[in-house]
Parts: sequence; C-alpha cells; structure tokens
Amino acid sequence: MKKIGILTSGGDAPGMNACIRAAVRAALANNLEIFGIRWGYAGMIRGDMIPLDRRAVANIIHQGGTILGTARSEEFRTKEGRGKAINMLQDKGIEGLILIGGDGTFRGGTLLSQECGVSVVGIPGTIDNDCYGTDYTIGFDTAINTALEAIDRIRDTATSHDRLFFVEVMGRNTGFIALESGIAGGAEELFVPEVPISVEELCRRLEEDFERGKRSSIVVIAEADQPGMSFKIAREVKNRTGFDSRVCILGHIQRGGAPTARDRVLASRLGAAAVQALIDGKSGYMVGEINREIVYTPLKDTWEKKKALHVGLTDLLKLLSD
Ligand code: F6P
Repeated sequence: MKKIGILTSGGDAPGMNACIRAAVRAALANNLEIFGIRWGYAGMIRGDMIPLDRRAVANIIHQGGTILGTARSEEFRTKEGRGKAINMLQDKGIEGLILIGGDGTFRGGTLLSQECGVSVVGIPGTIDNDCYGTDYTIGFDTAINTALEAIDRIRDTATSHDRLFFVEVMGRNTGFIALESGIAGGAEELFVPEVPISVEELCRRLEEDFERGKRSSIVVIAEADQPGMSFKIAREVKNRTGFDSRVCILGHIQRGGAPTARDRVLASRLGAAAVQALIDGKSGYMVGEINREIVYTPLKDTWEKKKALHVGLTDLLKLLSD
C-alpha cells in the first residue's frame, strides 16, 4: 500500500483534528502518501482530495471541528454516487481509507469497500458515544464537559430562583451524554431512552423531591431523536403538578470547542492505530479503545450491536440526588 485517504463524515466532533494530525504523521512516518478527502463522501464524489504533509496538520491539535470539513451525503447512498467516488479514488491511486465518524460513515465505507476492494478502517468520532466496540468515542469527553459547564451555570440561576429546569442534551437516540453530564452536574432527575420513565412518574418524583425540601431541580433530558421535546415535557409537568419551569436546549454548542486532553489522547492513539491497521492488511474494522487496549471490531458490529448504557450509573444518579 502506497497511498491512503482520510475523511471525516457525519456530525463533527472535537478531537477530529487531533486524529487527522495523528493519522497523517503516522502515515508519513511509514512512507505512505496520504490524501485528505474534503467534505466527507460528498467531496469524494467530486474528487475533492488534497495531499497532506506534516505541515498541513501543524497547530490543529487544539482546534474543534474538522479541517477537512464534513457532510452527510445522500448521493453516496446510491450505487451511482458510490461509482463516481470509486472513479475518483482510482484516479488518485488510493488503496486504503481511514473513515472518522459514526455508524452512517462506517456503513458507507463498507459498501464502498465491497464494491471496489479498497481497504477501509473506521475510527469512532462522534459526541454521542454510541459506537459499539470502544469505551469512548472521540468528542464525547469534550461534549460532556461542555454540557457540564452549562449545567453548573444553570444551577446557579435555578438555585437563585427556586426553579425547576429541564436541560436537553444531544445524543441522537442514546443517553450517554445525558447520563454522564447528569451525574457530574448532580442532576436531580434523568430522562433517557434506555431507562424510560413516564412523565407521570417524573412528576411523582419531582413532587417527592419538593416535599423533601428541594427548592430547585435540574432534570437532564436526552434529545432521544426528537430535539426540542423538553418543551412538551415541561408543559405536561406544569399541567400535572403546577410546577413552573424553564427549558434550556444545549444543541450544537455541545459539538464545538477545543477538545479535552482525554479526547486528544484518544484521537492521537486511534489515528496512529488506524494507519497501522491498514499497513497490517486489516480492512473492514473499526479501531477502538477498550480498557485502555486498542481493539478491532468488525465494522458491521458497530451498527448491528448496541452499546449498552451503564444502567448502574442511572441508579447512582438517583441515589445521590435524593
Ligand atoms: O451525531 C451527533 C449529533 O450531534 C447528534 O447528537 C444530534 O442528534 C445530531 O448530530 C444533530 O445533527 P445535525 O448537525 O445534522 O443537526
């Protein structure tokens, strides 16, 4: 293998740049040429690829976002779209690909690999932490710290006004961000899809909290594929209990900002491991980190198997918020 490509796809995540930097420098150290494919699969279809040297990735380790740009490409979902992408890869002589993203990114890469034989290795890069095959995804640690900072600020105003707050965090259809930012922020209640509770039950718990003397409360809500649903929950809670509340949706703020040290280390490690995997002839795997060891998970497992939320932590949140 002489030439490889790297792209970021799907939602950006802090640490993607640190990962690109690591992959580029590891590739060059192993005498591989490496091309940056801009704007994910959309850019691949257009042939938007640039050679990357050591200097091209200088001073990006601390930057959020992705210097390559990212996109969600509808055209790449079609065989015709992938056909165009394959022509572009063949034009450049690219034999291996590093894909930084989530399950959508890995599904696309797997189809591409089946259709043209290019080797693909995935790296989990998403704030959601919803990839099977790794303890943490690149961007998650930064996102929970961003959410935590917001929760801490909200607690100041919630306490000052004796108020109930609903803080909605991202996470697609999973509650990883909600759970960890909720525990760290001392949330009173948690609303996540993995451990569903009814609004009626939530109201009962909030009423108990207030009866026990709590004057303010923070409920952390996972968006659960319905961004903005906290407003509906707040309305229902008001109707059932009379509790006035405020809603704060953190939204895309959670996607930006400088990556934490933990995200930078993970990104650096996985970027270098992905290059090594391609050199070792591996294809169709995601490199992840489990118990501090690098592990290779078949790409299809990353979407067919579901990563479990640490349900023990949801019990802990309840115990500690009493
Ligand atoms: O997957 C990352 C993520 O930020 C999710 O948490 C969220 O549901 C989604 O992307 C938002 O996507 P978009 O940037 O397209 O609005």
